[in-house]
Amino acid sequence: MADMMWAGRFSKQVDEGVNAFNSSISFDGRMYEQDIRGSIAHATMLGDCGIISKADSKLIVGELCKISNDISDGVIELDPNAEDIHMFIEAELTKRLGDVGKRLHTSRSRNDQVAVDLRLYLRDEIADIYSLVKELAVTLLNMAREHTETIMPGYTHLQRAQPITFAHHLLAYVWMLLRDMERLKDTSKRMNYCPLGSGALAGTTYKTNRQQTSDLLGFTAPMPNSLDGVSDRDYCIELCSALSILMTHLSRFSEEIILWCSWEFKFVELDDAFATGSSIMPQKKNPDVTELIRGKTGRVNGDLVTLLTMMKGIPLAYNKDMQEDKEAIFDAVDNVKLCVKTFTPMLATMRVLKNNMRNAAARGFINATDCADYLVKKGMPFRDAYKITGTLVAQCIEEGLTLETLPIEEYKKMTDLFDNDVYEAISLETCVRERKSEGGPSPDAVREQIKLAEKALDL
Ligand code: ARG
Repeated sequence: MADMMWAGRFSKQVDEGVNAFNSSISFDGRMYEQDIRGSIAHATMLGDCGIISKADSKLIVGELCKISNDISDGVIELDPNAEDIHMFIEAELTKRLGDVGKRLHTSRSRNDQVAVDLRLYLRDEIADIYSLVKELAVTLLNMAREHTETIMPGYTHLQRAQPITFAHHLLAYVWMLLRDMERLKDTSKRMNYCPLGSGALAGTTYKTNRQQTSDLLGFTAPMPNSLDGVSDRDYCIELCSALSILMTHLSRFSEEIILWCSWEFKFVELDDAFATGSSIMPQKKNPDVTELIRGKTGRVNGDLVTLLTMMKGIPLAYNKDMQEDKEAIFDAVDNVKLCVKTFTPMLATMRVLKNNMRNAAARGFINATDCADYLVKKGMPFRDAYKITGTLVAQCIEEGLTLETLPIEEYKKMTDLFDNDVYEAISLETCVRERKSEGGPSPDAVREQIKLAEKALDL
């Protein structure tokens, strides 16, 4: 086994099992590009500050660029026996440049190095996720435009409650996603501070220029405290919590789609390309994608708990526990991206069965509130109107009728305030059209809402 970097202090090689146990390259190797970017900024600053010679700085920067290309082109492979990506790249550099390569780590520790790498990596991932979520929101908005007149039942307790439109329902998710986007942006803004130059924990005795490395890497400013610089993982927790909330939204929507695909609802039909069959039951068309999204929500929540638990008991500053941050946050990021990437085209190709939605809205006395409101508008106190309507609903259930088919004589037996215009007042179209309060389901109110959403999405 090759000598470890810290060989000077030790008289024995590290046990092979311990070595494998400690190693993180299998999962932090994905940050090679960020690690090299950070090292290029560091080497440039060391040269400009006269801590290493300009010539060495140039050689290091040039060789790091080559290493980056060699890794992306597959010319060299990450060594699975390296302790982590930071050690691997430094060793590769030293292999190529000899003593010059050994100067790169001057005035730096892996503690500020890993902190800067992870911030750079997650900053890019957040930008990706943001665009994916925006694309999903725009897809929903486009669907909403097509369905401002598509009447469906609105539910509470999964019981038919009041009529809404499909556009109204879709827009509820657009607003959730807009908040998710804000949370992502906010997380990105708060994490965009540069830990480089914090050293192991207590800064450095060299006359470095932290502003320069921060600027070179596109950060807002250097982190003001070196202990915090190396041991803060708030940004992982905050990102994971934003992702958990996003997944919660996708999961609720998935659950609805699962219900809507069932024969009991049949409000939508998934495109064949986004559903699966059963190995034994020929009639089945299963909404696997949505079930997996619902399942993966638990996994992302687990990642969040992993991060919170990992951090809650460790003293300042760096502790090796923190190496566990990466698998959790990478798992969350990877899975969220997979989910959104699959969900968007699934929704865009889903067939909406308008008639079934409307038929479901026509049953279940979804217009009972409107019937009571009819009496209120004729002067009756709401509580009395509520009671009369309840009695009529009970009578309809008893006689197998609906409020639409109950004869006017039966209405009039309850109160003279009822007239033939009650049928118009309780028609589904009226019920929806008249719910024109701000944020309500009427086609006019929804069109206003669409304009607001377009503005919020910068369309
Ligand atoms: N692989 C380590 C991690 O992911 C890098 C930092 C190691 N620092 C140390 N002092 N052992 O956290």
